Amino acid sequence: MSREDVIQGDAIAHPNVALVKYWGKRPARGNLPAMGSLSLSLGFLATRTTVRFDPAGGQDTLTLNGSRNSRDLKRMQDCLAPLRRRAAESGSATVDSRNDFPTGAGLASSASGMAALALAGASALGLVEDLDLVGRSAMAGSGSAPRSLHGGVVLLSIDPEGKWSCASVLAPEEWPLKVVVAVTQTGPKQTDSRSGMELTRRTSPFYKAWLESQKADLEDAGRAVAQRDFGRLAELSEGNCLRMHATAMGASPPLMYFNGATIECMHRVKALARDGRSVFFTVDAGPQVKAICLPDVLDEVCDALGRVPGVQQVLSGDLGGGARLVGG
Ligand code: DP6
Repeated sequence: MSREDVIQGDAIAHPNVALVKYWGKRPARGNLPAMGSLSLSLGFLATRTTVRFDPAGGQDTLTLNGSRNSRDLKRMQDCLAPLRRRAAESGSATVDSRNDFPTGAGLASSASGMAALALAGASALGLVEDLDLVGRSAMAGSGSAPRSLHGGVVLLSIDPEGKWSCASVLAPEEWPLKVVVAVTQTGPKQTDSRSGMELTRRTSPFYKAWLESQKADLEDAGRAVAQRDFGRLAELSEGNCLRMHATAMGASPPLMYFNGATIECMHRVKALARDGRSVFFTVDAGPQVKAICLPDVLDEVCDALGRVPGVQQVLSGDLGGGARLVGG
Protein backbone atom coordinates (compact mmCIF):
# COMPACT_ATOMS: atom_id res chain seq x y z
CA MET A 1 0.00 0.00 0.00
CA SER A 2 1.36 3.42 -0.79
CA ARG A 3 -0.42 6.65 0.03
CA GLU A 4 0.25 10.17 1.13
CA ASP A 5 -2.71 10.89 3.38
CA VAL A 6 -3.21 10.21 7.03
CA ILE A 7 -5.96 7.60 7.44
CA GLN A 8 -8.06 7.11 10.52
CA GLY A 9 -10.50 4.70 12.18
CA ASP A 10 -12.67 5.15 15.24
CA ALA A 11 -14.50 2.40 17.17
CA ILE A 12 -16.29 1.67 20.43
CA ALA A 13 -16.30 -1.63 22.36
CA HIS A 14 -17.68 -2.76 25.71
CA PRO A 15 -15.62 -4.58 28.32
CA ASN A 16 -16.73 -8.11 29.09
CA VAL A 17 -16.75 -10.31 32.15
CA ALA A 18 -15.99 -14.02 31.86
CA LEU A 19 -18.21 -16.57 33.61
CA VAL A 20 -16.01 -19.43 32.42
CA LYS A 21 -12.58 -17.90 32.55
CA TYR A 22 -9.44 -17.86 30.48
CA TRP A 23 -6.44 -18.16 32.78
CA GLY A 24 -3.35 -19.53 31.05
CA LYS A 25 -1.88 -19.38 27.54
CA ARG A 26 -0.54 -22.04 25.21
CA PRO A 27 3.22 -21.91 25.63
CA ALA A 28 5.10 -20.63 22.57
CA ARG A 29 1.87 -19.88 20.67
CA GLY A 30 1.87 -16.09 20.84
CA ASN A 31 -1.10 -14.84 22.79
CA LEU A 32 -3.26 -17.93 22.32
CA PRO A 33 -5.34 -18.96 25.37
CA ALA A 34 -4.98 -22.56 26.55
CA MET A 35 -8.74 -22.86 27.04
CA GLY A 36 -12.05 -21.49 25.77
CA SER A 37 -14.15 -19.00 27.74
CA LEU A 38 -17.68 -17.66 28.04
CA SER A 39 -18.46 -14.02 28.78
CA LEU A 40 -21.08 -11.30 29.09
CA SER A 41 -20.74 -7.93 27.37
CA LEU A 42 -21.01 -5.01 29.84
CA GLY A 43 -23.20 -2.62 27.88
CA PHE A 44 -23.04 0.15 30.50
CA LEU A 45 -19.26 0.62 30.17
CA ALA A 46 -17.40 1.49 26.98
CA THR A 47 -13.99 2.20 25.50
CA ARG A 48 -13.61 4.42 22.44
CA THR A 49 -10.41 4.10 20.45
CA THR A 50 -9.18 6.17 17.52
CA VAL A 51 -6.18 5.19 15.41
CA ARG A 52 -4.42 7.33 12.80
CA PHE A 53 -1.82 5.97 10.41
CA ASP A 54 0.60 8.60 9.16
CA PRO A 55 2.60 7.65 6.04
CA ALA A 56 5.26 10.20 7.01
CA GLY A 57 6.44 7.65 9.60
CA GLY A 58 7.77 8.39 13.08
CA GLN A 59 7.11 6.64 16.36
CA ASP A 60 3.93 4.80 17.30
CA THR A 61 2.25 6.42 20.29
CA LEU A 62 -0.55 5.50 22.67
CA THR A 63 -2.60 7.88 24.77
CA LEU A 64 -4.84 6.28 27.37
CA ASN A 65 -7.48 8.38 29.10
CA GLY A 66 -5.62 11.52 28.12
CA SER A 67 -2.13 10.47 29.30
CA ARG A 68 0.73 9.18 27.19
CA ASN A 69 1.20 5.48 27.97
CA SER A 70 4.35 3.53 27.14
CA ARG A 71 3.55 0.49 29.29
CA ASP A 72 0.84 -0.77 26.93
CA LEU A 73 2.51 0.38 23.69
CA LYS A 74 3.86 -3.10 22.86
CA ARG A 75 0.42 -4.67 23.36
CA MET A 76 -1.05 -2.05 21.04
CA GLN A 77 1.61 -2.79 18.40
CA ASP A 78 0.96 -6.55 18.76
CA CYS A 79 -2.72 -5.88 18.14
CA LEU A 80 -2.06 -3.81 15.01
CA ALA A 81 0.60 -6.21 13.62
CA PRO A 82 -1.75 -8.61 11.76
CA LEU A 83 -3.52 -5.64 10.15
CA ARG A 84 -0.28 -3.94 9.18
CA ARG A 85 1.04 -7.17 7.68
CA ARG A 86 -2.08 -7.61 5.57
CA ALA A 87 -2.08 -3.98 4.40
CA ALA A 88 1.72 -3.84 4.04
CA GLU A 89 1.23 -0.66 6.05
CA SER A 90 4.35 1.21 7.12
CA GLY A 91 3.00 4.46 8.55
CA SER A 92 3.26 5.28 12.24
CA ALA A 93 0.19 4.70 14.41
CA THR A 94 -1.20 7.27 16.82
CA VAL A 95 -3.72 5.63 19.11
CA ASP A 96 -6.03 7.48 21.47
CA SER A 97 -8.16 5.34 23.78
CA ARG A 98 -10.65 6.49 26.38
CA ASN A 99 -12.83 4.64 28.87
CA ASP A 100 -16.15 6.16 29.87
CA PHE A 101 -15.88 4.41 33.23
CA PRO A 102 -13.88 5.80 36.12
CA THR A 103 -10.15 5.64 35.52
CA GLY A 104 -8.45 3.59 38.17
CA ALA A 105 -11.64 1.76 39.08
CA GLY A 106 -9.71 -1.41 38.36
CA LEU A 107 -12.11 -2.58 35.67
CA ALA A 108 -10.55 -4.61 32.90
CA SER A 109 -10.23 -2.34 29.90
CA SER A 110 -7.70 -4.31 27.86
CA ALA A 111 -10.45 -6.42 26.25
CA SER A 112 -12.57 -3.44 25.19
CA GLY A 113 -9.46 -1.40 24.32
CA MET A 114 -7.96 -4.07 22.07
CA ALA A 115 -11.31 -4.93 20.44
CA ALA A 116 -11.94 -1.25 19.65
CA LEU A 117 -8.36 -0.86 18.41
CA ALA A 118 -8.59 -3.91 16.12
CA LEU A 119 -11.84 -2.64 14.62
CA ALA A 120 -10.64 0.97 14.30
CA GLY A 121 -7.34 -0.16 12.75
CA ALA A 122 -9.11 -2.45 10.29
CA SER A 123 -11.45 0.38 9.35
CA ALA A 124 -8.57 2.80 8.73
CA LEU A 125 -6.85 0.24 6.50
CA GLY A 126 -10.00 -0.78 4.61
CA LEU A 127 -9.96 -4.31 6.09
CA VAL A 128 -13.09 -4.21 8.18
CA GLU A 129 -14.93 -6.77 6.04
CA ASP A 130 -12.39 -9.41 7.04
CA LEU A 131 -13.91 -10.38 10.39
CA ASP A 132 -11.43 -13.19 10.84
CA LEU A 133 -8.53 -10.77 10.58
CA VAL A 134 -10.18 -8.33 13.00
CA GLY A 135 -10.61 -11.20 15.47
CA ARG A 136 -6.98 -12.27 15.12
CA SER A 137 -5.84 -8.71 15.63
CA ALA A 138 -7.94 -8.39 18.80
CA MET A 139 -6.56 -11.73 20.04
CA ALA A 140 -2.98 -10.60 19.42
CA GLY A 141 -3.68 -7.66 21.76
CA SER A 142 -5.51 -9.58 24.48
CA GLY A 143 -6.91 -13.11 24.84
CA SER A 144 -10.19 -11.76 26.16
CA ALA A 145 -10.53 -9.07 23.45
CA PRO A 146 -12.16 -11.14 20.65
CA ARG A 147 -15.09 -11.57 23.07
CA SER A 148 -15.55 -7.77 23.16
CA LEU A 149 -16.13 -7.74 19.39
CA HIS A 150 -19.44 -9.52 20.05
CA GLY A 151 -22.52 -8.70 22.10
CA GLY A 152 -24.66 -10.43 24.71
CA VAL A 153 -23.38 -13.83 25.86
CA VAL A 154 -20.20 -14.72 23.97
CA LEU A 155 -18.39 -18.03 23.53
CA LEU A 156 -14.74 -18.29 22.57
CA SER A 157 -13.93 -21.90 21.73
CA ILE A 158 -10.54 -23.42 21.00
CA ASP A 159 -9.85 -26.89 19.66
CA PRO A 160 -6.85 -29.01 20.72
CA GLU A 161 -4.85 -27.77 17.70
CA GLY A 162 -5.37 -24.18 18.78
CA LYS A 163 -7.91 -23.26 16.11
CA TRP A 164 -10.33 -20.85 17.71
CA SER A 165 -13.56 -19.07 16.96
CA CYS A 166 -15.61 -16.51 18.82
CA ALA A 167 -19.29 -15.66 18.48
CA SER A 168 -22.30 -14.35 20.29
CA VAL A 169 -24.50 -17.22 21.53
CA LEU A 170 -27.34 -15.02 22.85
CA ALA A 171 -28.13 -11.43 21.96
CA PRO A 172 -28.67 -9.06 24.94
CA GLU A 173 -32.44 -8.95 24.40
CA GLU A 174 -32.67 -12.75 24.39
CA TRP A 175 -31.84 -12.93 28.10
CA PRO A 176 -32.08 -9.59 29.92
CA LEU A 177 -29.43 -10.26 32.56
CA LYS A 178 -28.15 -7.36 34.65
CA VAL A 179 -24.62 -6.90 35.91
CA VAL A 180 -23.60 -5.02 39.07
CA VAL A 181 -19.96 -4.06 39.64
CA ALA A 182 -18.87 -3.42 43.22
CA VAL A 183 -15.64 -1.41 43.16
CA THR A 184 -13.70 -2.28 46.30
CA GLN A 185 -10.37 -0.74 45.40
CA THR A 186 -9.10 1.88 42.99
CA GLY A 187 -5.58 2.22 41.65
CA PRO A 188 -3.47 -0.29 39.78
CA LYS A 189 -3.62 -3.94 40.76
CA GLN A 190 -0.55 -5.72 42.03
CA THR A 191 -0.09 -8.36 39.33
CA ASP A 192 -1.63 -7.90 35.88
CA SER A 193 -3.49 -10.80 34.27
CA ARG A 194 -0.76 -11.53 31.77
CA SER A 195 2.03 -12.07 34.29
CA GLY A 196 -0.38 -13.64 36.79
CA MET A 197 -1.58 -16.32 34.40
CA GLU A 198 1.96 -17.08 33.24
CA LEU A 199 3.17 -17.45 36.83
CA THR A 200 0.19 -19.71 37.55
CA ARG A 201 0.85 -21.87 34.49
CA ARG A 202 4.51 -22.28 35.37
CA THR A 203 4.29 -22.78 39.12
CA SER A 204 0.83 -23.76 40.38
CA PRO A 205 0.45 -27.49 41.05
CA PHE A 206 -3.27 -26.99 40.46
CA TYR A 207 -2.89 -25.65 36.91
CA LYS A 208 -3.20 -29.04 35.18
CA ALA A 209 -6.45 -29.81 37.02
CA TRP A 210 -7.77 -26.33 36.21
CA LEU A 211 -7.03 -26.84 32.53
CA GLU A 212 -8.67 -30.25 32.51
CA SER A 213 -11.84 -29.00 34.20
CA GLN A 214 -12.39 -26.17 31.72
CA LYS A 215 -13.88 -28.15 28.85
CA ALA A 216 -16.72 -29.56 30.96
CA ASP A 217 -17.42 -26.14 32.55
CA LEU A 218 -17.62 -24.54 29.13
CA GLU A 219 -19.97 -27.15 27.72
CA ASP A 220 -22.20 -27.12 30.83
CA ALA A 221 -22.31 -23.32 30.92
CA GLY A 222 -23.14 -23.23 27.20
CA ARG A 223 -26.08 -25.56 27.87
CA ALA A 224 -27.24 -23.50 30.86
CA VAL A 225 -27.21 -20.37 28.69
CA ALA A 226 -29.11 -22.08 25.85
CA GLN A 227 -31.77 -23.17 28.37
CA ARG A 228 -31.73 -19.80 30.22
CA ASP A 229 -31.10 -21.86 33.36
CA PHE A 230 -30.01 -19.12 35.77
CA GLY A 231 -29.48 -21.45 38.76
CA ARG A 232 -27.21 -23.80 36.84
CA LEU A 233 -25.24 -20.92 35.29
CA ALA A 234 -24.83 -19.42 38.77
CA GLU A 235 -23.43 -22.64 40.19
CA LEU A 236 -21.04 -23.18 37.28
CA SER A 237 -19.81 -19.58 37.16
CA GLU A 238 -19.10 -19.27 40.87
CA GLY A 239 -17.34 -22.65 40.86
CA ASN A 240 -15.25 -21.70 37.83
CA CYS A 241 -14.31 -18.34 39.33
CA LEU A 242 -13.24 -19.82 42.65
CA ARG A 243 -11.27 -22.59 40.90
CA MET A 244 -9.41 -19.98 38.87
CA HIS A 245 -8.52 -18.08 42.03
CA ALA A 246 -7.60 -21.28 43.90
CA THR A 247 -5.27 -22.18 41.02
CA ALA A 248 -3.70 -18.70 41.14
CA MET A 249 -3.34 -18.90 44.94
CA GLY A 250 -1.39 -22.12 44.37
CA ALA A 251 1.24 -20.24 42.33
CA SER A 252 4.64 -19.51 43.75
CA PRO A 253 4.71 -16.81 45.01
CA PRO A 254 0.94 -17.05 45.57
CA LEU A 255 -1.41 -14.69 43.77
CA MET A 256 -4.21 -13.28 45.86
CA TYR A 257 -6.47 -10.84 44.01
CA PHE A 258 -9.16 -10.54 46.75
CA ASN A 259 -9.25 -7.95 49.50
CA GLY A 260 -11.51 -8.13 52.56
CA ALA A 261 -14.39 -6.32 50.85
CA THR A 262 -14.17 -8.69 47.86
CA ILE A 263 -14.82 -11.63 50.16
CA GLU A 264 -17.54 -9.78 52.06
CA CYS A 265 -19.31 -8.98 48.75
CA MET A 266 -19.19 -12.64 47.72
CA HIS A 267 -20.80 -13.58 51.05
CA ARG A 268 -23.50 -10.92 50.59
CA VAL A 269 -24.32 -12.32 47.16
CA LYS A 270 -24.49 -15.85 48.56
CA ALA A 271 -26.81 -14.64 51.34
CA LEU A 272 -29.13 -12.99 48.79
CA ALA A 273 -29.16 -16.19 46.72
CA ARG A 274 -29.98 -18.24 49.84
CA ASP A 275 -32.95 -15.92 50.36
CA GLY A 276 -34.21 -16.86 46.90
CA ARG A 277 -32.82 -13.96 44.86
CA SER A 278 -31.51 -14.80 41.37
CA VAL A 279 -27.95 -13.53 41.70
CA PHE A 280 -24.41 -14.90 41.54
CA PHE A 281 -20.90 -13.46 41.68
CA THR A 282 -17.73 -13.60 39.68
CA VAL A 283 -14.32 -11.97 40.24
CA ASP A 284 -11.52 -11.45 37.70
CA ALA A 285 -7.85 -10.77 38.31
CA GLY A 286 -8.55 -7.87 40.66
CA PRO A 287 -10.54 -7.08 43.80
CA GLN A 288 -13.79 -5.89 42.17
CA VAL A 289 -16.86 -8.11 42.40
CA LYS A 290 -19.33 -8.53 39.56
CA ALA A 291 -22.81 -9.74 40.48
CA ILE A 292 -25.03 -11.09 37.71
CA CYS A 293 -28.75 -11.01 38.42
CA LEU A 294 -32.24 -11.01 36.96
CA PRO A 295 -33.90 -7.58 36.53
CA ASP A 296 -36.37 -7.93 39.42
CA VAL A 297 -33.60 -8.06 42.04
CA LEU A 298 -31.27 -5.43 40.55
CA ASP A 299 -32.09 -2.68 43.06
CA GLU A 300 -31.76 -5.02 46.00
CA VAL A 301 -28.38 -6.32 44.79
CA CYS A 302 -27.04 -2.77 44.20
CA ASP A 303 -28.25 -1.71 47.63
CA ALA A 304 -26.79 -4.76 49.40
CA LEU A 305 -23.37 -4.44 47.75
CA GLY A 306 -23.32 -0.67 48.27
CA ARG A 307 -23.62 -1.27 52.03
CA VAL A 308 -20.64 -3.61 52.29
CA PRO A 309 -17.86 -1.78 54.15
CA GLY A 310 -15.03 -1.04 51.72
CA VAL A 311 -17.23 -0.80 48.63
CA GLN A 312 -16.42 2.56 47.07
CA GLN A 313 -18.79 2.58 44.14
CA VAL A 314 -21.49 0.46 42.54
CA LEU A 315 -22.03 0.49 38.76
CA SER A 316 -24.76 -1.49 37.04
CA GLY A 317 -26.61 -2.01 33.80
CA ASP A 318 -27.53 -4.26 30.90
CA LEU A 319 -25.61 -6.54 28.62
CA GLY A 320 -24.32 -4.72 25.56
CA GLY A 321 -23.90 -5.26 21.84
CA GLY A 322 -20.70 -5.93 19.92
CA ALA A 323 -17.97 -3.46 18.97
CA ARG A 324 -18.99 -0.84 16.39
CA LEU A 325 -17.43 1.81 14.22
CA VAL A 326 -18.07 5.45 15.05
CA GLY A 327 -19.31 7.42 12.09
CA GLY A 328 -18.69 4.43 9.85
C1 DP6 B 1 -9.19 -13.12 34.72
O1 DP6 B 1 -7.27 -11.16 28.40
O2 DP6 B 1 -6.39 -9.58 30.17
O3 DP6 B 1 -10.10 -11.59 33.15
O4 DP6 B 1 -4.42 -12.15 26.96
O5 DP6 B 1 -2.64 -11.48 28.54
O6 DP6 B 1 -4.22 -9.77 27.67
P1 DP6 B 1 -4.03 -11.20 28.05
O7 DP6 B 1 -4.95 -11.47 29.31
P2 DP6 B 1 -6.43 -10.95 29.60
O8 DP6 B 1 -6.86 -11.99 30.75
C2 DP6 B 1 -8.17 -12.11 31.20
C3 DP6 B 1 -8.17 -12.84 32.49
C4 DP6 B 1 -9.47 -12.84 33.25
C5 DP6 B 1 -10.42 -13.94 32.77
C6 DP6 B 1 -11.13 -13.71 31.47
O9 DP6 B 1 -11.45 -12.55 31.13
O10 DP6 B 1 -11.42 -14.71 30.80
